[in-house]
Amino acid sequence: MDNKSSAVAFLLLSLLVICAAKKDKICDKGWECKGAFCCNETISDLFKVYNFEELFAKRNAPVAHAVGFWDYHSYITAAALFEPVGFGTTGGKQMQMMEIAAFLGHVGSKTSCGYNVATGGPYAWGLCYNREMSPSQSYCNPNYLYPCTPGVEYYGRGAIPVYWNYNYGIIGDGIKVDLLDHPEYLEQNATIAFQAAMWRWMTPMKKKQPSAHDVFVGNWKPTKNDTLAKRVPGFGTTMNILYGDTVCGQGEIDPMNNIISHFLYYLDLMGVGREAAGAHDVLGCAEQVAFNPSSTSSS
Ligand SMILES: *[C@@H]1O[C@H](CO)[C@@H](O)[C@H](O)[C@H]1NC(C)=O
Ligand SMILES: *[C@@H]1O[C@H](CO)[C@@H](O)[C@H](O)[C@H]1NC(C)=O
Ligand SMILES: *[C@@H]1O[C@H](CO)[C@@H](O)[C@H](O)[C@H]1NC(C)=O
Repeated sequence: MDNKSSAVAFLLLSLLVICAAKKDKICDKGWECKGAFCCNETISDLFKVYNFEELFAKRNAPVAHAVGFWDYHSYITAAALFEPVGFGTTGGKQMQMMEIAAFLGHVGSKTSCGYNVATGGPYAWGLCYNREMSPSQSYCNPNYLYPCTPGVEYYGRGAIPVYWNYNYGIIGDGIKVDLLDHPEYLEQNATIAFQAAMWRWMTPMKKKQPSAHDVFVGNWKPTKNDTLAKRVPGFGTTMNILYGDTVCGQGEIDPMNNIISHFLYYLDLMGVGREAAGAHDVLGCAEQVAFNPSSTSSS
């Protein structure tokens, strides 16, 4: 009897030690880590400051437009808010790395000032911008819930740029920052800019629609309508959710292929390798019907 229970105690203790060693700290959610990521690696275990520097190598070049703005610390601080709900902590190391690359692929593509002959190649220039440089309008649309604040402009800002008063309003509610009155926070504070982009990645924009996170990590099961609309789990459908028909269902257009190329480039740099990303029809959304028509999509 005694031997048996001390054997059990020893087993439990060993598991605890293994858990603790793996994470370099005592798991505070129980050794079995059910429903939590406590014994799994978090983003900062898998993605270090040198990874960030490699992916965004040119962001502080003299010709960049947001020199000194974006940094690793802001990215990790923002991520800490979303890791408990699965951001970069779902599905084991390979999937975690893939999701980090996928999210940053969107960010890099949308904030790049790279072009074909740029030094370091066209994909080394992510996080070059933190705002739209020459807005052609103030992006104010009459909206009952999120009316425009007088004198404020809602041009594109942030890591996955936010446009329009209602998008600033919804996302501000989501991250509990008053972006409707202060859209400028997204170009003044990189932590808030990353938080806004991660919230967008993690949150369905409409009821009955999945989040980009869910379609990427495989939490989402397409309906018959989705299958008919060629929407399949994977990176391609994340573009559909974030940009709708401005990027998807238009054939092999540059805006789509540019986002894919950033994702693949980051997978290579992170040592995962682009082969892991899957076939082009899963990676792209050239033939997909948009979830959201452009009148309501955020870009
Ligand atoms: C933790 O990692 C394991 C194996 O790597 C994975 O199967 C599991 O889904 C992860 N836990 C969570 C909550 O994602
Ligand atoms: C940026 O925003 C974060 C999160 O709201 C906040 O903790 C931090 O103090 C802000 N930084 C500055 C310089 O205002
Ligand atoms: C499927 O698509 C049809 C036609 O567009 C639509 O009427 C129907 O409501 C959709 N069903 C679901 C479950 O979304």
